[in-house]
Order: sequence, then structure tokens, then C-alpha cells
Amino acid sequence: MNSPLSSIVILGTGSYLPERIVTNDDMAQIVETSDEWIQARTGIRQRRFAAEGENTSHMASAAARRAIEDAGIDPTEIDLILVATMTPDMPFPSTACLVQSQLGLPQCTAFDIQAACTGYVYGLNIATSMLQSGNYNKALVVGAEKLSGILDFEDRSTCVLFGDGAGAAVLGCSDVSGVGMIGGIGGADGSNPEILCQPAGGSAIPPGTDSLAARQHFLKMNGKEIFKQAVRVMGQASTDLLEKTAVDADDLALIIPHQANLRIIDSLTKRLGIPVDNVFINLQDYGNTSAASVGIALDEARHSGRIKTGDLTLLVAFGAGLTWGATMVKW
Ligand SMILES: CC(C)(COP(=O)(O)OP(=O)(O)OC[C@H]1O[C@@H](n2cnc3c(N)ncnc32)[C@H](O)[C@@H]1OP(=O)(O)O)[C@@H](O)C(=O)NCCC(=O)NCCS
Repeated sequence: MNSPLSSIVILGTGSYLPERIVTNDDMAQIVETSDEWIQARTGIRQRRFAAEGENTSHMASAAARRAIEDAGIDPTEIDLILVATMTPDMPFPSTACLVQSQLGLPQCTAFDIQAACTGYVYGLNIATSMLQSGNYNKALVVGAEKLSGILDFEDRSTCVLFGDGAGAAVLGCSDVSGVGMIGGIGGADGSNPEILCQPAGGSAIPPGTDSLAARQHFLKMNGKEIFKQAVRVMGQASTDLLEKTAVDADDLALIIPHQANLRIIDSLTKRLGIPVDNVFINLQDYGNTSAASVGIALDEARHSGRIKTGDLTLLVAFGAGLTWGATMVKW
């Protein structure tokens, strides 16, 4: 058992992107759009779509396998599995249970987190608290999505924005104080759920011929409203966490924001007054991968040398709900 005073640290990360690359020009074959429009409004150049039969759990397991290898731990040490997703293989059982089985992990606590694009950041914060409780030793946190399965390829305002993939981290304890997960916050406002949702498929509108005909089983979004809210809550979550952890924005080596839209990220950097070089951006390659986005970005940032020992890194996300969250990591 951990001492409740141990630091909680990220021991390893991993990510997985499906092989199939779909460019903006490819999207223009499906809906009336153009590479120029998509790049100018979002910064996205291409995204990855999962293969037929490649489910969220398969991508989650692939990313998790890499994170476990990177952490250099024995997989039998994992006693907590959290999978953040809004595109689970099925409503139940949880994708976390499927990952447990696919990787042959111990029969430990395993559950899904549904906080849309904020899910991975929520997951890191939840895992940190559960490890701090002393009741768990090693946590696997995964963000994974197969959004291509819920996109409406007749709606050009949404289908060009999203992609598939998975990002994972293994968290454990360290006797070194003042490192690792040094603070986290989260929030939610459920007063306008319809601005970003999948209306049908749950108890409100069970799947049926009417809901299929009305295309209610696909993702629906009020892009302008989400944009406004995203700018507000990403900025607020970041400044709140900086205050809570007594960190100055100038001392951040890197910000890893949710990869939804370059213009949203630009407004965040302006609000925090930090140079754009201190922000990790890979949305041009993958689009918005929802709960997977921050996990993939964190893994790429680590393995491309953008994070060094002693660096302070702020991870921040927003998503449907509305949800938002941030976490501060000292490496
Ligand atoms: C979706 C988004 C890119 C749209 O950009 P926008 O500047 O708000 O664009 P608008 O919705 O005002 O649309 C402008 C025009 O482009 C058109 N348009 C929409 N999608 C298009 C596409 N893919 N290609 C070409 N034209 C498109 C619209 O029909 C509209 O045409 P009109 O003026 O003739 O009516 C932007 O609102 C956004 O990024 N919102 C946040 C989305 C997000 O982050 N979601 C994930 C949350 S986790």
C-alpha cells in the first residue's frame, strides 16, 4: 500500500493511431468541403479512421500495451484501469473491462469515464486521487475513441473535425516529493447538453427506426456555441489551476491542450500570455480525437523530446457536457 504522502507520477505513456489516413481532399470526396476551408477554420489537414472491425477497445489496448512497456513495469502490478471514451465498444460492459481481458491484466477495479473530450484529464485526476488514497498501487489511464462510427457523413460541419485513436499512461507512486501530479481541477455545466451530443441510443431516445431515419444516432454540434464556451472554459481552467498550484504561466515549459481547433488553442495562448512555441499541437495530423487527444499529444510530446526532467506541464481539456479539466505535471 502507498503512503498517502507519496508523490503520484506518470511512469510511462503510449499511443495508437489507426493506419488509415484520411486527408481533407479525401473528405471533399464525401461532403461539399475543401482542404482550404478545413485548414483555415480548424488547422486540421488529415485524420485517422479505424479499420472495419477495429474497435475502441482494440485501440485502447494497443496504446495501453505501449504505455506499460514504456513504464517498464510488470503488467500484473496494475490494480486500476480507467478508460475515458464516449464511443465505447458497447454501452456495457465497460471498455475498461474489455481492455483488462485483451491485455490479460489482473482482475482489478476497471471502469469507464464518460466526460467526452475531457475524459483523459478527468482520468488522470481520478487515478491520482485513488492512488493517493493508498488503496491502489498502479493505474492505467486510457483515452480512446472511434468517432468515425458516430459521425454523420452527410453533415459537413461536423464530420471533417474528428478522428480515431488512443492515448494511455501508467501512473504509480514515487518517494521523491514535489514531483508528478502536483494539482488538478475539473468542472461541468450540464445546462445545455444539446450543444454537443449524440441524441439517440440511450434511455431518452432508444435506438429505433425513427431515430435512425432522423439521423439522431450521430454526433450533433452547435459549432459556434461550442467554440465560445471552449475558449472561456479552457482559459478559466488553466488560470484556476495555475492559481491553485501557485505556478506562474511563464514557468510552464509546455501546455498540452485538447486538440480541437487551432483557433481555440491560439486564444488560450493569448489569454495566458505564453508563446505558441510552448504549446504542443498535433491536431493537423489527427483532427479532434476527443478523449484520446491529450493522451496522444502527451505521448508524442514525451517521445519527441519536448518534455525534460524538471519541466512543468499543464494539460487542459474541454468537451461535451459541458465538461472541462486541467492537471499540472512536474517531470
Ligand atoms: C465548426 C467550426 C469549425 C465552424 O467554423 P465557423 O467559423 O463557426 O463556421 P460557421 O459554422 O459559421 O460556418 C460558416 C460557413 O461555412 C459552412 N461550412 C460548414 N462546414 C463546412 C465545411 N466543412 N466546408 C465548407 N463549408 C462549411 C457553413 O455552412 C457556413 O456557410 P453559410 O455562411 O453559407 O451558412 C467552428 O465553429 C468550431 O471549430 N467550433 C468548435 C467545434 C469544436 O471544437 N468541437 C469539439 C468540442 S470538444
